[in-house]
Amino acid sequence: MLVSLHHIIDGLKNANGAIPAFNVFGYEDAIAVVRAAEEVKAPVILATNKVAIAHMPIQLLGNILTTIAKNATVPVVVHLDHGADYETVAQAIMSGYTSVMYDGSQLPLAENIRTTQEITRFAHACGVPIEAEIGSVGYSDLQGHLTDPQEAKRFAEETGVDTLAVAIGTVHRMEEQTAQIDFVRLKEIEAVVDTPLVLHGSTGVSDIDIQALIKHHFVKVNIGTAIRMAFGHTMRKEMEENPYEFDRITLFKEPMRAVQEEVKKKLTLLQAHQYLTKEQILL
Ligand code: G3H
Ligand code: ZN
Repeated sequence: MLVSLHHIIDGLKNANGAIPAFNVFGYEDAIAVVRAAEEVKAPVILATNKVAIAHMPIQLLGNILTTIAKNATVPVVVHLDHGADYETVAQAIMSGYTSVMYDGSQLPLAENIRTTQEITRFAHACGVPIEAEIGSVGYSDLQGHLTDPQEAKRFAEETGVDTLAVAIGTVHRMEEQTAQIDFVRLKEIEAVVDTPLVLHGSTGVSDIDIQALIKHHFVKVNIGTAIRMAFGHTMRKEMEENPYEFDRITLFKEPMRAVQEEVKKKLTLLQAHQYLTKEQILL
C-alpha cells in the first residue's frame, strides 16, 4: 500500500531501528526493492534523486512508483530525494509522492532557512511531510561540511521540517564501508534537536556503525550506491557470461535478483521488519 512517511516513521526516533530509502531509477530496481520488502515483511521507501528525474519525467516516475506501492502488500512511501527547488517539490507532490526532500544545504544558513520555510509551508498545506538538510553531506567531487549542533537546532525550530538530514561524517556514493562517523557530534545534535534524523550516504557506513546509529534518533537511512553496485556488477557478469544474449528482459533477471538480495540484507540490518504494526498489516 502507498503510505505517507509519517505512517512508517512515527515513533521510531527512540526505537532500535530505521526504515531505509532506496534510490531507484525505474521499474526494474523499484520492483526488486518492493519484492524484498514483501519477503521480509518490512515497510520501505522508494526514493528518486536528481539523476532519476532528469532521466525520466517526474510525472511518469510518480505514476510507476505509486502504482507499484499501491499494489504492494507492505507499506511503501514514494519520496523525492534531494529536491533542488520549489518547482521540483511541487511537481513531486502533484505526481503523487508521499514524502519530499528539499535540499538547500549548499546555500548560506539564512537562505537555506528562508527557502526551506517557504517550501515547508507548501508541502504541509498539501499534507505531505518534508525533509531538509543542515550541514552538508558531500560527494566525491563536492566538499561537504559537518552539521553544527546549534545551527541544526535553529534550522529545525525555524523551518518546522518533519525530518532532518545531518552531516556526521558520511559521504555520498562511497563504494567501501569506510566512513568515519562523528558520534560525539551526533550526541550534541541530539541533545538540542527534537526532529527525527535522516542519514545520507549510508552505503559507506559499516554494518557495526549502522547498528549503533539506528539506536540514535535516525528514522530514515538513505541507501543508493549499494543497490546500484548490485545491479551494475551483476549486469556486467551476465553480459560477460552470455555474450550472445541481447534480450533485455533476460539480461535484467539476475541484476534484479541481486538488488532484491542486497535490499533484504539492508532491511534486516536496519531491523525495519520489526516496524510493521498490526494496523499496517491490516491496511
Ligand atoms: O540521498 C541518497 C543517499 O544519501 C544515498 O547515498 O548512494 O552513498 O548510499 P549512497
Ligand atoms: Zn543523499
